[in-house]
Parts: sequence; structure tokens; C-alpha cells
Amino acid sequence: MLLLRILCIYFLLSNFLYANDLLANENKSKSTIKALATNLKKSLKLILEESGPIAAVEYCNIAALDITNEIANQKNVFIKRTSLKLRNKSNMPDNWEINVLSNFEKRKQNGENIMDLSYQEVFKENNEAFFRYMKAIPTGQVCLTCHGSNIDSKLAYKLSELYPDDNAYNYKIGDIRGAFSVKIPLKN
Ligand code: HEC
Repeated sequence: MLLLRILCIYFLLSNFLYANDLLANENKSKSTIKALATNLKKSLKLILEESGPIAAVEYCNIAALDITNEIANQKNVFIKRTSLKLRNKSNMPDNWEINVLSNFEKRKQNGENIMDLSYQEVFKENNEAFFRYMKAIPTGQVCLTCHGSNIDSKLAYKLSELYPDDNAYNYKIGDIRGAFSVKIPLKN
């Protein structure tokens, strides 16, 4: 009987710790995304105001990934930005991310607010478990300069030089431009 009780307590406790672990990882994902989003927005605003969109594209080309890696290192998680219509091939989605992004599109069509579109799952890859989290990135007015359908011809030329396979244009305000994606290895 005693053994049974100990086992029960063990299972309850491990379930509780597991749920706690998930919550901690959810919070960590959210705070990492917030840090990256704030940093990227601030950097973009500054360079747009100081040097204009062409310089901003040259800057984004390198700086966006540098800032992303810096924040990933600080917080000790994997984080990236990705999309179903990509500009930079370094931001390519994997299969799990393609599924989540497609579901975000369906959820938006079904009336969900784009600001609330997020998804999390414990996902196994090659026998390793990961906590994965994604949050949609909305298209705002400022994004249209470089992701809209009326891109200035000099800017369009610069973009085509840097990204010959660019698909990240023709977006409208309120579209899902892409998503942040976080991946945290779980201890087995
Ligand atoms: C000055 C031009 C410019 C503006 C304005 C701009 N972007 Fe981008 N965007 C780029 C460039 C260049 C890249 C590719 C380099 C990178 O960031 O990885 C990119 C890439 C991205 C990506 C990564 C996925 C992909 O397609 O490679 C997302 C997500 C994104 N932009 C969202 C936004 C959002 C949201 C806004 C508005 C808040 C915005 N961008 C405004 C130039 C711009």
C-alpha cells in the first residue's frame, strides 16, 4: 500500500513539475519574442528615419539576423522569424512551422484576431523533445514600404539584387507577414 501511495505522489508531482516546466517555457518564449520584436522595430524605425528605405534594406539584410542571434544567445533558446512567403532564404520554415503558419491563416479566416494567433506544442524530433512556440507577426503600415504592392522602383531594384527569389511583397495591412518561432530543448 505504501508503495502505491509513493507511486501516486511521484506521478502527481512529476505531472505538476511537467506542467510547471511548460509554463516556464511558454513565458520564456513570450519574453524572448517580445525582446526581439522590440529591438527589431526600434532598429528599423531609426535607420528608416535616418537613412531611408534603401539603406534600411542593406542594413536589415545583415542586422536582422545578427540581432536575432544575439537575443537567442542572451536567452539561450533558438528563435527565428519565418513566413510562408519569404524574402530571405535564411528564414526558411521547417515542416512543423509550415503547418503552424497554414493554421494561423485558417484561424484568421475564421475570425480570430491576428494579435492572438499563437501556438505551442511539445514536439519530438530524432528522439529529442522540444518545446516549440510560434506567434504571428501582423503587417502594419510601415511594413508596406518594403513588403507592399507599390514598392518604389529603386527600392524594388535593390531588393531584387539582394533577394532574387523574393516572395515577400504584395502584403496588405492586417495580413499575417510571418511569425516568430521559438524552440527550447526539453530534458528527457
Ligand atoms: C526597409 C525595408 C523593410 C521594411 C520597412 C520592413 N521589412 Fe521586413 N524584411 C526586409 C528585408 C530586407 C528582409 C530580409 C532580411 C531579414 O530581415 O532577414 C525582411 C524580412 C522580414 C521577415 C522575415 C521573413 C522573410 O520574409 O525573410 C519578416 C517576418 C518581416 N520582414 C516582417 C516585417 C514587418 C512585420 C515589417 C513592418 C513592421 C517589416 N518587415 C518592414 C525589409 C523590410
